[in-house]
Amino acid sequence: MANQNVDVCIIGCGPSGLMLSRLLAIKGLSSIILERSKRAHVEGRIRAGVLEHGAAQTIIDSGMGERLKAERMLHDGVCFAIDGKQARVSLTAYAEGQQISVYGQHEAVRDMIAFTLENGVEIVFEAEDVALHDFETGASPSVTYQKDGREHTVSCKYIAGCDGFHGVSRKSMPQEKIKEFHRSFPFGWLGILAKAEPATDELIYARHKNGFALYSMRSSTLSRLYLQVPLDTDVADWPDEKVWNELDLRLGADAGWSVNRGEIIDKSITPLRSFVVEPMQLGRLFLAGDAAHIVPPTGAKGMNLAIADVRVLAVGLAKMINDNDVSLLNEYSQICLRRVWKAQRFSWWMTGILHTPEGAQDTYQSRIDQADLEHLLSSDCYAKIFAENYVGLPFEV
Ligand code: APR
Ligand code: PHB
Repeated sequence: MANQNVDVCIIGCGPSGLMLSRLLAIKGLSSIILERSKRAHVEGRIRAGVLEHGAAQTIIDSGMGERLKAERMLHDGVCFAIDGKQARVSLTAYAEGQQISVYGQHEAVRDMIAFTLENGVEIVFEAEDVALHDFETGASPSVTYQKDGREHTVSCKYIAGCDGFHGVSRKSMPQEKIKEFHRSFPFGWLGILAKAEPATDELIYARHKNGFALYSMRSSTLSRLYLQVPLDTDVADWPDEKVWNELDLRLGADAGWSVNRGEIIDKSITPLRSFVVEPMQLGRLFLAGDAAHIVPPTGAKGMNLAIADVRVLAVGLAKMINDNDVSLLNEYSQICLRRVWKAQRFSWWMTGILHTPEGAQDTYQSRIDQADLEHLLSSDCYAKIFAENYVGLPFEV
C-alpha cells in the first residue's frame, strides 16, 4: 500500500483535469491526476476542434499554448449553407474583433500532458478501480486506486471530478442529493478525418433537406467533416464514396461547389445529447467539464465549458487553501451553471435550426427553423447574439 499527499486529487486526464492541474500549480498548489486509460489512448482520441477566444487565451496564458499559438487556424467568421446556398456571419465584426481558434482537442491534450509531466506533476495512467472516500462531510477526503497490482491511496484536501460523463466521480454522489437533466436527439453525427486540403477557409454549417453537414479542418492538409445520420446507423453502411457524395450535396452542390476529397483516416459515429447535473459540488468533491454537463457538438462548446469551469475552480480552491476564504468555492456551482445553461441553450438552438429529423423535412417545425436561420443571416442584431455566443461569453472569474 503506497500513500501520496496533495492539495487536490484530480480524476481524469482530459482538458478539464489537465488545465485545472496547471492553474493550481500557478497558484502554488499541488495535485495528482488519476487517469483510467493509457496515455496513447488519451492522446489519440479524435474530438472536436474549436476554441473560443477566451479558452484559447487561457491555454496560452497558462504557458501550455506554444504549439497552439504556432499551429492554430484563427477564423474571423463562420459560414452557413442553406439547401446548398452559402452565407457568412463575421465573428470579428459582431464580437468586438474576437476570433475562434481551430485546433484539435487531442492536440491540445497532447500539449498539456507533455507540459504537465515536464513540470513535475504526476499523472497516473491506467489507474484502475478509482474510488472516492469521505468527501461529503469529512475534512480529509481520499481517493484509492489500483496500479500494477497494488492499492494506492491519495490523501487530499479536495477532489476534482474531471472524469467525463461516464466517470466515477458523479456516480459517487448520492442520487438524492443531485438532479440530472437529460435531452437526447433522434440523430447522430458521422465524422470523418481525411487527408485533403480544406476547400474552405472557414467552417461551414449546412442545413439541407437530407440533414445537417459540417465542414471543418485541422490543418492545410487535413479536413474534418460531419454528416447527420440516423441514430442506429452502422459505419459500414457509409462507404467513402457515399460519404463524399452526400457531403457535396449537403454543403453546396446546388451552388456548383464541392468538397476536396482525400484518403479517409478516421470514420466514426457519435450520438448527440445534452446533460446537466446540479449542483456541481458536494462537500469537498467538485465536478468539472463533461462529468457535469454534455452539449451536442453543434455549438462547439464542449472543451470550452470544461476550461471555463476549471478557471473558477482553480481560483476558488486557491482562495480557500491559501487564504482560508471559502466564498468563491461556495459559489462554484452557481457561477459555472450560469454559463453552462447559456451554452446548453445555444447548443440546443443551433442543433435545432440546422438538423432535420428523419421524415420531418416538410413540417411546421422545419419552416420555423428555416425562418430562424434566415433571420440570423439577415439581421445585425441576431448576428451579434450569435457571434457573442460562438466566440464565447465573457468569463465571470
Ligand atoms: N477513473 C479515472 N479516469 C477516468 C474514469 C475513472 N473511473 N472515468 C473516466 N476517466 C477519464 C477518461 O478516460 C478521460 O480521459 O477521464 C477523462 C475525461 O476526459 P474528457 O472526456 O475529455 O472530459 P473533460 O476533460 O471534461 O473534457 C471535456 O472532452 O469529450 C470532450 O466534448 C467533450 O470537448 C469536451 C471535453
Ligand atoms: C470540429 O472541428 O471537429 C468541429 C467544429 C465545429 C463544431 C463541432 C466540431 O461545431
